[in-house]
Amino acid sequence: MKEELNKIIKSAQNDIGQAGSLHDLMQLKSRYTGKKSILNSFMQKIGTLPVAERPAFGQTVNQAKAQLAELLAQREIEIKEKEYESNLKSQVIDLTMPGRKSESGSLHPITKVWRGIEDIFISLGFDVAEGPDVEDEFHNFDALNTPADHPARNLSDTFYLEDDVLLRTQTSTVQVRVMENHQPPIKIISPGSCYRNENDASHSPMFHQVEALVVDEGVTFADLRDMLNIFVKKMFGEDIESRFRPHFFPFTEPSAEIDIICVKCHGKGCNLCKGSGWLELGGAGMVDPNVFDMLGIDSEKYTGYAFGLGMDRVAMLKYKIPDMRLLFENDVRFLKQFK
Ligand code: PHE
Repeated sequence: MKEELNKIIKSAQNDIGQAGSLHDLMQLKSRYTGKKSILNSFMQKIGTLPVAERPAFGQTVNQAKAQLAELLAQREIEIKEKEYESNLKSQVIDLTMPGRKSESGSLHPITKVWRGIEDIFISLGFDVAEGPDVEDEFHNFDALNTPADHPARNLSDTFYLEDDVLLRTQTSTVQVRVMENHQPPIKIISPGSCYRNENDASHSPMFHQVEALVVDEGVTFADLRDMLNIFVKKMFGEDIESRFRPHFFPFTEPSAEIDIICVKCHGKGCNLCKGSGWLELGGAGMVDPNVFDMLGIDSEKYTGYAFGLGMDRVAMLKYKIPDMRLLFENDVRFLKQFK
């Protein structure tokens, strides 16, 4: 029996040495040392030996088991190392290979115009002020000298959320908020979203305005005219002239609408300017003394000007965008053009 055992140990050593994978090794483990293994069957046969030989034989089998277990463990480490190395070779990572590029997005044309406008006015000494999109009638209408029966209060223009709660129709609300809280000198712009119930190629229910307000002693209409000229040239180019057309706004007197020379035909007349050579940019005027009086600013001492420009319109003119709705559809084919 001993000889038989030695034979088996030899063949086990041989098999283990040749095992090429962890799978093979597992099979050898159960064949030689598992519950139903050959070595265990020797233990069962121990009863056939003379009593005196049994303890020694039992020991020999146990030793053999331990020896094989160690061999198996060693071989397992060897196989794992081999597999690791061959993995390293087959799954080579070339660190010099260029990576996959992720496409970067771009700023929305309105964001670009918004930031450009802020930069221009900050360079001219203005502060940037902000106000809420959800407003009350006082800030959107009353304090802007817009009486209750003014057509701009009509429901068809203004989105009312509740009685006396509305989406601001203009950034002029921020003029009011600034003058409520500050005495002159005031020199601010306030860019932001506005809302009106209209929707076509040149109107969007949500749009963007930038308002400017300058209040101090001795501010004149000529200062307003001058400031707008400077802005227009910085924004659209030195060759772009602007002009004022008489107009009416409840909170400015006198009031004007601002036009610039058509950026496409430079005044000759084309489809963009509908043949007139001019494009409308916004409104302007001298702050009505009534507004000062309502907000506690001395209208005998101070004068001021204000203007408001459609930033979407500026974007359309600057980038020659034919339809305002393109700005809000978020079509990537459109947005990609502003990288
Ligand atoms: N808030 C006016 C509008 O939305 C524009 C404007 C602003 C006019 C400031 C005069 C002064 O039409």
